[in-house]
Amino acid sequence: MEASFWHSKWESQQIGFHLSDVNPFLVRYWEKLGLDGGTVLVPLCGKSLDMAWLHQNNHFVIGNELSKTALEAFISEQQLQVVHSNHNTLDCYSNDSYQLWQGDFFNLTTSKLPKLNAFYDRAALIALPPEIRQHYWTHLASMLEPGTPGLLITLDYPQQQLSGPPFCVTEDEVKQLSEGLFEVELLCREDVLAENPRFVKKQVERLDELVFRLIRL
Ligand SMILES: C[S@@+](CC[C@H](N)C(=O)[O-])C[C@H]1O[C@@H](n2cnc3c(N)ncnc32)[C@H](O)[C@@H]1O
Repeated sequence: MEASFWHSKWESQQIGFHLSDVNPFLVRYWEKLGLDGGTVLVPLCGKSLDMAWLHQNNHFVIGNELSKTALEAFISEQQLQVVHSNHNTLDCYSNDSYQLWQGDFFNLTTSKLPKLNAFYDRAALIALPPEIRQHYWTHLASMLEPGTPGLLITLDYPQQQLSGPPFCVTEDEVKQLSEGLFEVELLCREDVLAENPRFVKKQVERLDELVFRLIRL
């Protein structure tokens, strides 16, 4: 996906991926990471309420998002007071609870960040086409110290029945992408077809949501 694809989605507010509530899988499974506070990286974060939940659950949240519109909406909706700073290709909006980095994730490196204690990927890996996924996954892993955990949520459906995004990313693909990078554990697979009218309308036969715990090797 070109950056222009996402910018136009945000400008026209075609953001069907945005949930009006906190993701239930985050609430159900975050404790499986065994964290006690710390800094969480949320790549390709949109204006997800999941970031606010992570903040409420004692985490410092680092979000990254291509779209300025998305981050401005998050800042306004959460009524945050932030300080803006520019770092070449990236802009940062920060306060005591958040660092929100606007720009391409591939330009974000740990030299700009505090130590990361965990990551949370919902609709980030599955937003990317197959040819970019390994690059994304390797870049994410490069930002994490060994032992760092993360929660990943993907969708599994017959890709030939609907073109992404969101793309299908199976358990096998997660394991393949993670070889040498992450230990992978599938925590849950749930049939979510009935709650996704777009997939039902397109007569997609099966739609599962998968939740993984990952540990950086
Ligand atoms: C499917 S949305 C998911 C947003 C969020 N994770 C959520 O759960 O609502 C994917 C987001 O990734 C952003 N994005 C796509 N490519 C990106 C990149 N290279 N760097 C940073 N953000 C990117 C898009 O603007 C979009 O908001």
